Amino acid sequence: MFETLKEQPADKILMLMQAYKDDPRDTKIDLGVGVYKDASGNTPIMHAVKAAEHQLWEAERTKAYTGLAGDPAFGDAMVALVLGDAVPRANVAAAATPGGTGAVRQGFDMIRSANPAARVFVSDPTWPNHLSILRHMEIEMVPYRYFDDETRGVDFDGMMADLAQAKKGDVILLHGCCHNPTGANLNMAQWKEVVALLLKTGATPMIDIAYQGFGDGLDADAAATRLVASSVPECLIAASCSKNFGIYRERTGLLMAVSQDASARKLNQGTLNYLNRQNFSFPPDHGARLVTMVLTDDTLRSEWMAELEAVRNSMLGLREQLASELQRLSGSDRFAFIAQHRGMFSRLGTTPEMVEKLRAEHGIYMVGDSRLNIAGLNSTTVPILAAAIIDVGI
Ligand code: LMR
Repeated sequence: MFETLKEQPADKILMLMQAYKDDPRDTKIDLGVGVYKDASGNTPIMHAVKAAEHQLWEAERTKAYTGLAGDPAFGDAMVALVLGDAVPRANVAAAATPGGTGAVRQGFDMIRSANPAARVFVSDPTWPNHLSILRHMEIEMVPYRYFDDETRGVDFDGMMADLAQAKKGDVILLHGCCHNPTGANLNMAQWKEVVALLLKTGATPMIDIAYQGFGDGLDADAAATRLVASSVPECLIAASCSKNFGIYRERTGLLMAVSQDASARKLNQGTLNYLNRQNFSFPPDHGARLVTMVLTDDTLRSEWMAELEAVRNSMLGLREQLASELQRLSGSDRFAFIAQHRGMFSRLGTTPEMVEKLRAEHGIYMVGDSRLNIAGLNSTTVPILAAAIIDVGI
């Protein structure tokens, strides 16, 4: 029977991870998958997380099931982290999921359950797995313009013109901060215009926030999500703890459904619980428990915030260094956008041929659409990358 299966296209980001591993050159540089690396190339466990893990090892007495939505304390802590006091807690249904990807998948499932004909508007470009999951679920996608190849900023006019085509029953997928793959983001004035458009069209927003704390700070990065959630009748928010807590393999995320009142919340919560049960039953607990411990203990929380701030500042420093090195080598400001972008990624805006040249001639790995992971750099590799970019003629 299984001979009838179709070969599935390999995930480009994961394929790149493997190609990098297989490359014998010791000068190779991995700027592919979105994983934070410190100056020595390691992805460390944050001290606050390790301390929580230690405490958990001492204190945990059972591995019995939690609830279908996970431990409610995790939901409370994460809703507070993402939404602050922007909306009443009583209006937010929430369920723990296996990673931010799990939250995205469950969100799409909820959309399809509510409206099988829903179209999901996706930024062009977006995280490739958004497209892959939507395709797999046979949900119709409508791309909207996002990246301006000239300025390497947001093509806001194009975006608004395309989103104006959305209507009630459609969903607009937005990146809460640190847009993946481009690094180009809306400012708050533009977010206000997006809110006005959402209210005008009646389309439902779904916000993917996977990098809170990696751009301009924990609250600044959540500001757009909070604005949208407090302005529209309903929205979905998929949050990831992989990056800001550095717990990638623990698969820790939360899907939130924000509504206007307690009865809508009850219906949403029931749906989230049901979908978890159908897809994997209880969500993983270990990472969620660590996050809860970190967020609810004053000492662990301040330690974590300081560590996250150091990660964020190191990425900003690398952006500045790369932009100025490229300015020096090229004698122009055409790479200044790298210092303007925020989050883990920047899209260089060059061709797949140039990306391949960087790989073949310099052992520099980045995704084919010219997305580079800033956190894969360090102060020694920045000048090497800058020289390679100029050498291949980008
Ligand atoms: C990325 O975009 O590199 C990360 O979100 C990792 C992944 O799962 O693709």
